Amino acid sequence: MDIFRIEGEAKLSGKIKVSGAKNAALPIMAATILAPGESILDSVPNLSDINVLIELLGSLGAKVWRDQDKKLHIDTDSIDSFFGDYQIVRRMRASICILGPLLARFGKVEISMPGGCAIGDRPVDMHIRGLKALGARIQLENGYIIATAPDEGLIGADIFLGGPFGSSVLATANVMMAATLARGTSIIECAACEPEIEDLANFLIDMGAKIKGAGSPRLIIEGVKELSSCEYNIIPDRIEAGTFMAAAGITGSRLEIENCNLSHMMAVVDCMQNMGTTIEKTQTGCIVSHNGPIKATHITTQPYPGFPTDLQAQFMAMLAIADGNSVITEKIFPDRFMHVAEMNRMNANLRKEGCSAIISGVSGLSSAPVMASDLRASAALVIAALAAKGETIINRVYHIDRGYDRIEEKLNSVGAKIHRESI
Ligand code: EPZ
Repeated sequence: MDIFRIEGEAKLSGKIKVSGAKNAALPIMAATILAPGESILDSVPNLSDINVLIELLGSLGAKVWRDQDKKLHIDTDSIDSFFGDYQIVRRMRASICILGPLLARFGKVEISMPGGCAIGDRPVDMHIRGLKALGARIQLENGYIIATAPDEGLIGADIFLGGPFGSSVLATANVMMAATLARGTSIIECAACEPEIEDLANFLIDMGAKIKGAGSPRLIIEGVKELSSCEYNIIPDRIEAGTFMAAAGITGSRLEIENCNLSHMMAVVDCMQNMGTTIEKTQTGCIVSHNGPIKATHITTQPYPGFPTDLQAQFMAMLAIADGNSVITEKIFPDRFMHVAEMNRMNANLRKEGCSAIISGVSGLSSAPVMASDLRASAALVIAALAAKGETIINRVYHIDRGYDRIEEKLNSVGAKIHRESI
């Protein structure tokens, strides 16, 4: 198991490059199942979550490999299994994305329920509701979802896909993918608007799908008989970009972030500016600089285009040393506060109150041995450690490797001192 040893009071400078978006790549990889032949995906980041989906696609019989340019090739002609094994699915929730495509193309699928994780119980009722609306017959047995399509195939329908916390990103992905091969037209109301869902819709359109309203809450999908494999380049990862922005802010640094699309990050930029950070657009991304105190602010996480829940922990780290008191309210995953206790070990003054955290800014953080718990909480601990006084040890960094491609190499290239050690 690896740990990070991080030297505090870091100052960052220079250029840091963002990888392709994990949360766009995962559903797009699953979408290749919808068509025969070989699709080629560029800018797929090298992450353990991506590798789990590669393993899952391989277990279905697909051939998956990276070429010398690191492009990901997925050939689905040899798919001969429609079973998503618990031993694989339990390791990565987005495995659920094979449900819609397998059902739409092959008419049957059996996949383990993904189960919960550190940020919540992660139900899939909205996925099931949407697929049932398209005519699927679905049973839940022994922890597995067993779904079959009618003999004549899925049937287009009008589907309201809102849930208790608003829209669902991966439920929108699953239902949209399935609807592309359904007979007739489907309308998905209260669809997720995340850029990653828009990217998936654009990939499906390149495959020959007929989709209107990509990136809006109302998707209109006219089913087609079949789709074709294609080549595609994944959008930049706005969450990785936001993580680097917070790293620049908390260390009072000036950092150029390459390969970042600010139009996907307006809520994040607005929040950073409220905290006193300057962000200027460049040809390929932006320059983030922060001098002087961090201003306290209030953040509420919401479905896109609101402030993303996946940056909540990272911005809490920054606010932990702000001048004054801040409040973060988590409207997507009310229990997503595993990082609070760990940051308090670093002299932060954070208090969970229901689905909010009250953040009383302190003059500085101090190093401590801390435990990574989930992907984004772990990234937040890295950010806190960069600013803390002394050397911080972060245990269980495998959580970070799920969503960040060599984060220590990227941060060290701009002045951080992070050492990965196996213990
Ligand atoms: C996606 O997860 C992302 N993962 C998550 O990023 C992200 O936090 C989340 O969207 C919200 O933006 C990927 O894209 C691979 P949801 P997803 O369905 O689709 C409830 C990361 O760090 N809900 O949009 O699983 C759910 O409990 C990960 O990269 C239901 O009630 O999230 C939550 O409260 C973490 N029933 C809310 O909806 C359902 O059937 C939003 O969840 C589905 C979801």
